[in-house]
Amino acid sequence: MLIKIKRGWELPEAAATPECVYVNRRQLLKTMALGSIAVGSIGLLAGCDEAPAPEAQAAATPQPDPSADLYPVPRNPAYTISRPLTDEKLATTYNNFYEFGSSKNIWQAAQALEIRPWTVAISGMVEQPMEIGIDDLLAKMPLEERLYRHRCVERWSMTVPWSGFPLRALVEMARPLSSAKYLKMVTFEDSKMAPGQRAAWYPWPYVEGLTMAEATNELSFIATGLYGKPIPRQNGAPLRLAVPWKYGFKSVKSIVSFEFTDTQPVSFWETILGNEYGFWANVNPEVPHPRWSQAYEQPLGTDEKVPTQIYNGYGSYVADLYKGMEDQERTFM
Ligand code: MTE
Repeated sequence: MLIKIKRGWELPEAAATPECVYVNRRQLLKTMALGSIAVGSIGLLAGCDEAPAPEAQAAATPQPDPSADLYPVPRNPAYTISRPLTDEKLATTYNNFYEFGSSKNIWQAAQALEIRPWTVAISGMVEQPMEIGIDDLLAKMPLEERLYRHRCVERWSMTVPWSGFPLRALVEMARPLSSAKYLKMVTFEDSKMAPGQRAAWYPWPYVEGLTMAEATNELSFIATGLYGKPIPRQNGAPLRLAVPWKYGFKSVKSIVSFEFTDTQPVSFWETILGNEYGFWANVNPEVPHPRWSQAYEQPLGTDEKVPTQIYNGYGSYVADLYKGMEDQERTFM
């Protein structure tokens, strides 16, 4: 059972959190105490089908994406998949983006995300820290399309065509020092734009991290487009990570900072529930989440139960990264 110890920066939950989230969270804790949770209600934390905040609805006509002319980009045939592609409508209307609410139904609220100007900071253990605007970054990077699977820790999955560039290309541009061991990536923070960030119980901003070996693995991808168009706001515009051998929460959205460091980053979900969401989070059907099995997944838009594959089917690219580590580290959660 989860016993949560409050930290100094946390407001009392009832004061800080929208009531529906608060009530559902208490419900979740009760359910966890009983040792069971209904399959259909699996969520990172119990959320609610809240309507978008009025401010977010007001901003529902977003500015057009100025990178639209860059797409579509050529597909890299090395990364195709035999599974059918997920319907675009589903992949762009069933989302996790807690900055805009804790339900799956945040796509309209996310239209309030202002995607220009968008500056990315590259800092920490690098030869020369820099800031670069998203359009200058896009002009420098080799854009291509890849078909990737995406497996959420909640068991739903999708197969989508991301456009973007290998994270390795950004690492090479950043010229990290040899002492850098990790890459920490951070989402924007602006609670005026993102109503979810007014829930002070969450440790904003959203943070994720990879080891340098993971970040420079050929599969690690920065997605800037989806279905041959600029990536929609709800999917993490203007740039988000895609690491398909890991559970989806590692794929941090709307990144503003890449920091090279020698300290293992503590991620958003690790801060909240470290016993459920670890640093490594590699997909493994044989290692259940503490509250549910990971043996099967459900592709969005189907009733199918598809067996989950170790490393989400990408073991030939990444299994070597973790050889011999399993005894010391929880590499699969
Ligand atoms: N990044 C940020 N900043 N905020 C989030 O809430 N959710 C994560 C990940 N990246 C999340 C995030 C989770 S849990 C998943 S499964 C994927 O985004 C969902 O990506 P999608 O909405 O494009 O399917």
